[in-house]
Amino acid sequence: MANKFYSVVVKDVEKTTDECSVVSFELSDEVKSDFRFRQGQYLTLRAKINGEDVRRSYSLCSSPVDDQWKVAIKKIDGGKFSTFANDVLKKGDVLEVMPPNGRFFVEVDSAKAKNYVAFAAGSGITPILSIIKTHLTLEPESTFQLFYVNRSVSTIILKEEIEGLKNRFLDRLEIFHFLTQEQRSTPLFNGRLDEEKMETIYNRLIDVESIDDYFICGPTDMIFMIRDFLQDRGIDSKKIHFELFNTNGSKNATKKKKREIDTSILSQITVREGGKDFNFTIPRGSDNILDAALNNNADLPFACKGGVCCTCRAKLIEGQVEMEVNYALEKDEVEAGYILTCQSVPVSEKVVVDFEA
Ligand code: FES
Repeated sequence: MANKFYSVVVKDVEKTTDECSVVSFELSDEVKSDFRFRQGQYLTLRAKINGEDVRRSYSLCSSPVDDQWKVAIKKIDGGKFSTFANDVLKKGDVLEVMPPNGRFFVEVDSAKAKNYVAFAAGSGITPILSIIKTHLTLEPESTFQLFYVNRSVSTIILKEEIEGLKNRFLDRLEIFHFLTQEQRSTPLFNGRLDEEKMETIYNRLIDVESIDDYFICGPTDMIFMIRDFLQDRGIDSKKIHFELFNTNGSKNATKKKKREIDTSILSQITVREGGKDFNFTIPRGSDNILDAALNNNADLPFACKGGVCCTCRAKLIEGQVEMEVNYALEKDEVEAGYILTCQSVPVSEKVVVDFEA
């Protein structure tokens, strides 16, 4: 069942650079069908680390054509889960894993010849790798161009896999490496992607008219710069797909609205989940529905708590909420009343949300 954790055995933990491990999972035949995935989707992992329940989502870097479930976890400074995965986790351990989720993909159509472009930076390569492999394997006439930014060659986290794909799809996959801390002979390939580089790429390296879809994954600011650049040049936003890993530290994402909190007025919240109603009250405007419910010992699905992953989605049945940020719901979902409970603060006297609607 989606949004529930399964206990899954770690098949292997393989170091690919000093700072990155690829974790693969051993799935029993009974659960394999619940873990079927699309290229570009992610797994949410959960572990007790120093007594704390820590959850993180990581994109699958394997492809559905592999019949393998692998995530690459890059160690980040102060990162609880990433440090645990790189320093402690080992083959044979059991992790709590939620079935694949996410919408960072387009349909595979083996009868069509499509041209795709991807922009990635650092560990943003993980879903892109899965997407490239899947489309080029299942669509024999399609092509991919990848523009990929890293600090240096030694920090490229899935270098062997990328090179393997390049060799396998020699005339259908083109890769342009950009390095920020190592000099390359062509100035274009030195430094991160910015508007000037995008101008050159757009005018000289891609055949804009022939591109069917663009995929972007990396730091939030890079994603929005490229998205805006493409949209400003008239590219249909339906062709631009992006995946945010997390929104920590992003100035775009942390702009929270200032709210009036009146502790003398209470909001009565009802959460429907697992066929049951769970009721509690909070001071109006004081907290989002998810955190307030978890503080009241409810067991609800969540992963990023940053408005990115959509795991905490529910339907607003009654009342009003203010949603702080939303990187996950489509416009039509919002219009249909869906909310991200990790971002939704009740502002009416009564609020009813249904996680199963
Ligand atoms: S938990 Fe990820 S969007 Fe709410």
